[in-house]
Amino acid sequence: MTQEARQRIEQLRKELNHHNKLYYTDAAPEISDQRYDELMSDLAALERQHPEYQSPDSPTHRVGGEILEGFQTKDHAVPMLSIDNTYDKEELTAWHQRVISGLGVESDDLFGDVTFEYVAEPKIDGVAISLRYEDGILVQALTRGNGQQGDDITANAKTVRNIPLKLDGNPPAVLEVRGEVYMPHSSFQAINEQREAENLQLFANPRNATAGTLKQKDPKAVAKRNLRCFVHGRGVIEPNTWDTYFDFMQAIKNEFGLPVNDNVKKFDKLDDVWQFIEDFDAKRKDLSYDTDGIVVKVNNLEAQESLGSTTKAPRWCIAYKYPAEQVQTKLLDITWQVGKGGTVTPVAELESVFVAGTTVRRATLHNMDEINRKDIRKGDRVVVEKAGEIIPQVVSVVMEAREGDPPVTEAPAACPSCDGPVIREEGEAALRCNNPQCPAQVREKLIWFAGRGQMDIDGLGEKVVHQLADVDLLKSFGDVYKLKEHANQILTLERFGKTKLDNLLDGIEQSKQRGLARVLGSLGIRHLGAKAARIIAQHFGDIDEIAKASVEELQDFLVSGQKSGIGPQIAQSLHQFVNSEAGKQIIADLKASGVNLTEDKVQQPTDSPFLGKTVVITGSFADYDRKALTEQLQNLGAKVTSSVSKKTTLVIAGEAAGSKLSKANELGIEVWDEAKLTQTLQELTE
Ligand code: IVH
Repeated sequence: MTQEARQRIEQLRKELNHHNKLYYTDAAPEISDQRYDELMSDLAALERQHPEYQSPDSPTHRVGGEILEGFQTKDHAVPMLSIDNTYDKEELTAWHQRVISGLGVESDDLFGDVTFEYVAEPKIDGVAISLRYEDGILVQALTRGNGQQGDDITANAKTVRNIPLKLDGNPPAVLEVRGEVYMPHSSFQAINEQREAENLQLFANPRNATAGTLKQKDPKAVAKRNLRCFVHGRGVIEPNTWDTYFDFMQAIKNEFGLPVNDNVKKFDKLDDVWQFIEDFDAKRKDLSYDTDGIVVKVNNLEAQESLGSTTKAPRWCIAYKYPAEQVQTKLLDITWQVGKGGTVTPVAELESVFVAGTTVRRATLHNMDEINRKDIRKGDRVVVEKAGEIIPQVVSVVMEAREGDPPVTEAPAACPSCDGPVIREEGEAALRCNNPQCPAQVREKLIWFAGRGQMDIDGLGEKVVHQLADVDLLKSFGDVYKLKEHANQILTLERFGKTKLDNLLDGIEQSKQRGLARVLGSLGIRHLGAKAARIIAQHFGDIDEIAKASVEELQDFLVSGQKSGIGPQIAQSLHQFVNSEAGKQIIADLKASGVNLTEDKVQQPTDSPFLGKTVVITGSFADYDRKALTEQLQNLGAKVTSSVSKKTTLVIAGEAAGSKLSKANELGIEVWDEAKLTQTLQELTE
C-alpha cells in the first residue's frame, strides 16, 4: 500500500510539473484549470496521509503553506550588486570605451578577429531575487536586501508559478541564479480593483505591488497574486562549464527549464546594440509586464571577470533606461473629489490625450502641496505621464506656453458638495470635509456600505445608489432599510421594473444577517478596516458592549493569549463614532430595522498555561531579560505584578531570589525555576 502511495505521489508530482510548465512557461495548457486543481488536491491529500514522502520540490508548495513568523536574514554567497545607468547613446558609448580599455584591447581589434560580443536584454521592472538550486532542487530564495544579506523568502518564491521547484536535465551541483520577480499588468489591475473595494491603499505600480507581495508572511496570499519571474544572471555555479553568458542563458532555459526572457540577444557591434534598444522601445509597449530599459552585458565570462566590479556595480554591464513616455495636453480644469472618508482630492480634467496605450482625460494631482510645488494653474499646458506605465499623473507645467498670468490655484474654502468648511489637519497633506452629512461623502459611504466584502447588497450598486440619492430616498445607512416603504416611488424611476425592485429588496433583507463584524467594517469609520472590525466584534459580541467600552478597553484585550493588535488610533476613532450623536443615530436606525448587530464571541482558547494567571517574576535569569519576559508572559495572557500576595498564582524565581520567594513558599504558591520556565515556553512554540 505505501509503495503504491509513493508511486502515485511521484506520478502526480510529475504530471503537475508537466502541466505547470505547459501553462506558465509554454502558454499551451493541455488540461483545464479545474482538472489541475483536482490533481493538486489529490496530491495534497496523499502527502498529508504520508508525511514521510513530503519533499521540498513538491508542487503542493505552489499553493503556499503555513503562515511565517518573519523572514530570516541570510548571507549572499556572491554579493548582489546594482547596475549603473545610462540615458543616451553618448553615455552608452563612453561605457563601451571603458570596457575596451579595461580589457586592454585596441578598439579596432574588437569587432575584427577578436570575438568580442555583447548580450542585450530587457531590464525587467520588478524585484530582484536570488534562487539557489542544489542537485536541481530549489533550496533557497533570497531578496537582494542590502546586497550582502537578504531575506529568506523561499516559501513565497515557491508560489511563483514559473520558478521551477526542480530543474530538468543535469544541472551543476550548485546553481545559483539571479532574476527579477514581477507582476503582469492584468494581475496588477485586478489586485488594485480589489484593494479599492477593501478600502486599502492602492499600489502605485506593479513593482511596488510585487515588493509588497513578496514581503507577505502568508505564502497562500502570495500564491494568489500571480507573480512571475525572469532569470537574468548568475550567482555561485559549481562546477561552471560555460564560457559565455549567452550559452549559459540558453542552457538554463532549454536544458533546465528556467524562465528566460525571449528578447535576450547577442551582438558584435555596439551600433547593433543601439539599434536593438531603439527597436525594442516600440515592442515593449505591447508586453504584458513593465520593462524600463535594456541591460547590456559583456558576453565572455572571462572578460567579465577581468573587468570586475566597483563596490556598487559590475563594470561589465550597464543599463540603458528609456525615458517614460510623456505627452503634453491642456489642463481644462481642476476639480475636487470628495471621498467616503471626507478627503477632498484635486483632479486634473484634461483635454483627452493618448499616452502609453490608453486615452487619458483625468489625472490625479495628489494634493495642494504637489499643486504648489509644480505651480499648476487652470488653462496651463501640462506634461502627463503614467506612473509605472499605469496611473496618469501631471509631471510639470510647460511654463513657456502659459498665457498671461492665470490665478494661482487655491485650495477650496468650502466643500464642493456640501459647502461646509474644508480643513487640513496638522501633519497631513490631504484636505478634509468633516461634515458627516456631506452628500458626496454620504453617497460614497453608501456605495461602500452596500459593496462586496461589506454588507454585500445585491442590486444596490453605484448607479442605483446615485439614482436613489438623487430623489432623496437615500440620505443615511438607515434609509437603506426603509426603501421598501417607498416601493411605489422607486417603480417610477428610470429602468426600475418589478423584478429589479424585488431583487433589490431581497438583497437588502438578506444583508440584515451579515453580523456585527461586517456592519462595523461597512460604516466607513476612519482607521477601522475589516480585520480590526472582526477582532473587536468577536471579542465584544454586541454593539451595546462596544458602546459601553472605554478607549482602553477597545484595545487592551487578548486574542488567543496575545494582545489584540488594535491600536490607539482605531480604538479612539471607534469610541468617538459610537459616542457621537450621528453614530448613535446610525446604530439606533439599523437596530430598529432588524439589522443583526451581534457576533458570536470567540472563546479564548485555554492553550496558554499563563492564561488568567497572576505572576510575579523575581531573581535574575541567565537567558531572559526581565522586561522582555514580562511582556512575553503578558502576551500569553498572564497578569504580571511586582509583589507576592494571596492573589499571586505563580512565582517565577531565578538565581538569588530573596524575600519574594520565601513569601511564596510561606503562602504555598506554585514556584518555577528558570529551567521549568524555559521548558514551558519551548513547549508552547513546538
Ligand atoms: S543583470 C550585478 N539583467 O535591475 C547585477 N539585471 O537596477 C546584474 N534587472 O539589480 C544584473 N532586469 O535586479 C540584470 N535583464 C536584467 C535585469 C536586471 C532587471 C534588475 C536587477 C538589478 C537591477 C539594477
